[in-house]
Amino acid sequence: MRSSYGIAVALSAGLRLTTAAPAPRAESSLLYVTTYPVGQGAGKLITLKQDQTSLQSVAESDSCGPFPSWLTQAGDILYCVNEAWGGANGDLSALKISDDFSLPKLSGGQTVAGPVSTVVYGKGGRGLAVADYAGGGVDTFNITNPAAISLIKSQVYPAPGDNRPEPQNQARPHHAVLDPTGNFLVFPDLGADLLRVLRVNQNTLQYTDTKSYKFARGTGPRHAAFFKSGDKTFLYVVCELANLIQGFRVTYNYDKTLSFSRIYNSTTHGGTSPVPAGTSAAEITLSPDSKFLTVSSRNEKTLQYTLANGTAVPSDPLITFSINAVSGKLTHVQTAPAGGVNPRHFSFNKDGSRVASALQSDGRVIVFERDVASGKIGKAVAEANVPGMPNFVTFKQ
Ligand SMILES: *[C@@H]1O[C@H](CO)[C@@H](O)[C@H](O)[C@H]1NC(C)=O
Ligand SMILES: *[C@@H]1O[C@H](CO)[C@@H](O)[C@H](O)[C@H]1NC(C)=O
Ligand SMILES: *[C@@H]1O[C@H](CO)[C@@H](O)[C@H](O)[C@H]1NC(C)=O
Repeated sequence: MRSSYGIAVALSAGLRLTTAAPAPRAESSLLYVTTYPVGQGAGKLITLKQDQTSLQSVAESDSCGPFPSWLTQAGDILYCVNEAWGGANGDLSALKISDDFSLPKLSGGQTVAGPVSTVVYGKGGRGLAVADYAGGGVDTFNITNPAAISLIKSQVYPAPGDNRPEPQNQARPHHAVLDPTGNFLVFPDLGADLLRVLRVNQNTLQYTDTKSYKFARGTGPRHAAFFKSGDKTFLYVVCELANLIQGFRVTYNYDKTLSFSRIYNSTTHGGTSPVPAGTSAAEITLSPDSKFLTVSSRNEKTLQYTLANGTAVPSDPLITFSINAVSGKLTHVQTAPAGGVNPRHFSFNKDGSRVASALQSDGRVIVFERDVASGKIGKAVAEANVPGMPNFVTFKQ
């Protein structure tokens, strides 16, 4: 299998390894990073190995195409979308996670333009849904056989038609999220200011569009996270254009639709705390223990982070809130440096003791310690400079 699909293994070529404070634990972990290209180059899917205080590239792959933007792991398959900037379509690839770090492509399919997020759905995890930002649509795939994934349906939503400037001139689904029951897919639509709600048939993998939730025009919902608390379900949405976090109590209606009643609204910094001009909120993630919610915010540059080599650089924040499990309301816990500028994406490891941050504008990935009890992000464990602009990072499961 190895190299038969254009895998380029580049041991640390173009990568500089740096170290930070000693890690308390010795185990190593693998991380997958996708990068946007710089200039005429091509983005890559990079495998990093974190070993105590080191974070090093062990493989680079072109399998996903030149604009990889999001990864979803399912067993030993990594689903990767190629955003294909400026293209009429994007692509989804099923890549095989292999012991030699290669990621050969098993099969693929075409999406609506500009795919940016994917999620597995359906009984047995046989379906995969895609959010397409540039093309304003969604796709569903049958991934029963990763070596022969097949498109079920592509759909493009009509433009809102109210003559708003870009990016609100058209529909722009930005995130594909499965609800805790597995019966609904929701897509924050940054262009149309909607939360689109699709009811899925878990057996046939088909779906029906149901009524959307409408945000105030100009809000720009980007990403979302569900929180199931006893018999209650909450949904938190980070809104890129208005830099807000909005929390909702979700009601499952008898007519098989969802209703959303807002129970929380604050800026991404909490309360009414203002954000600097030019700020653009990005990711929202529930901690593995469901006690905390962390958001990343881009282009603020008001914090400082000291690199392992002693150089202080401007930093954007990762902002953490605790969640009241009864009311669903959030309380600000910490505003921590993300380790540089443009943290488009970050991830927790499985037990929440680490956070990996992808600094798109700085070509850097950092793994931080995280205190599971307080939810606070601590000191850096390891840093790596990566070629291109890292837009996504996840720990290998
Ligand atoms: C999905 O594809 C498999 C073949 O890989 C096929 O057997 C199955 O019927 C398909 N399932 C649906 C729900 O379309
Ligand atoms: C949400 O909070 C922001 C910031 O304080 C405020 O400007 C906005 O009006 C609030 N929106 C709603 C719907 O309460
Ligand atoms: C420290 O690392 C940064 C990022 O790689 C680099 O730009 C800077 O020149 C380095 N500074 C020193 C003193 O080596």
